[in-house]
Amino acid sequence: MTEIDKAYKILKENGVVGIPTETVYGLAASIQSQAGINRIFELKERPFFDPLIVHVNSITQAKEYVSNWSPLCELLANHFWPGPLTLILTKKNSISDKITSGLKTVAIRMPSNKKTLELITRLGHPLAAPSANKFTKTSPTKLIDVTSVFPDLFVIDGGKCTVGIESTILEILHNQIKIYRPGMISKQEINTLLSQNNIPATISYHESPIAPGSLKHHYMPKTPIITTLGPLHEQDTSSLPKHLLQKTASWKLPINAAIAAREIYGHFRKLDQQETTSMIIEITPKQRIDDHFKGILNRLFKASSYFLPEDLVEES
Ligand code: TXA
Ligand code: MG
Repeated sequence: MTEIDKAYKILKENGVVGIPTETVYGLAASIQSQAGINRIFELKERPFFDPLIVHVNSITQAKEYVSNWSPLCELLANHFWPGPLTLILTKKNSISDKITSGLKTVAIRMPSNKKTLELITRLGHPLAAPSANKFTKTSPTKLIDVTSVFPDLFVIDGGKCTVGIESTILEILHNQIKIYRPGMISKQEINTLLSQNNIPATISYHESPIAPGSLKHHYMPKTPIITTLGPLHEQDTSSLPKHLLQKTASWKLPINAAIAAREIYGHFRKLDQQETTSMIIEITPKQRIDDHFKGILNRLFKASSYFLPEDLVEES
């Protein structure tokens, strides 16, 4: 029996499986299984007000489940799918209220992992899946990150996630694109696509109407993270509790955004396995304003307990 056979069987029996995607691993159930969907919320300890993402195997499949697919959607999906872009669209009745937490809209994306696409195709309909971590904890980017938290879960092995942070989430309202969660598909990249196609849409960052990781503390390891702008020795550390700097681990955010994204959750995790009093993560002034780092800094800031300078986040 292959991994796909086994996962298919579990899903058919209203179960939940771990699936690899290019962003992070997901905790998946068939969109047709209410029991499976309930089990996701239970396993994840996630409140029912936080809706799930529906994963499809094609643009054709996505269109079956939404009622407002537009030429702009087509352009974005054609360009970025399969890939780390989630579109918020008006749902049809075939998507249950459980999946969308009662919202009229559904979050939908086509991931690029071959095994996951094969599983969706075999099943014949999409998979609902949040990231495969407990609510507010760091998302998993390797199989072992999932099985160490959910030891009884069957997980399809997709190796290490190539993108490393969750998808960019956006909603299209007429000619206005609202980014609710920044990710590795940046505003700049979307803008370039729009202008190449002479589309007069505007694009801007917004707080989500609901809470996609918009809770202040999210992705947070147990050991406190101190994010510094430039090296620690150049900072005024007098505001920090003294014990924090007794035994520190440190990491300089890589200059290349793709590498930084791929590595960041691994570093959060490694940190929790070491006996340190804090982890110092250093960013540069350039990274702080670079659009390619928007998603990475969004996760880093939510995972951090302290900032040097203290107003690092407010100013950006
Ligand atoms: O890369 C990803 O997006 C990963 C992989 C597994 O696909 N998934 C992921 O799922 O990050 P999750 O559930 O951890 O985050 C999805 C976010 C949620 O915080 C939720 O609030 C938001 O998407 N969301 C879902 N449906 C929505 C909707 N209809 N309107 C606005 N936001 C929505
Ligand atoms: Mg998540």
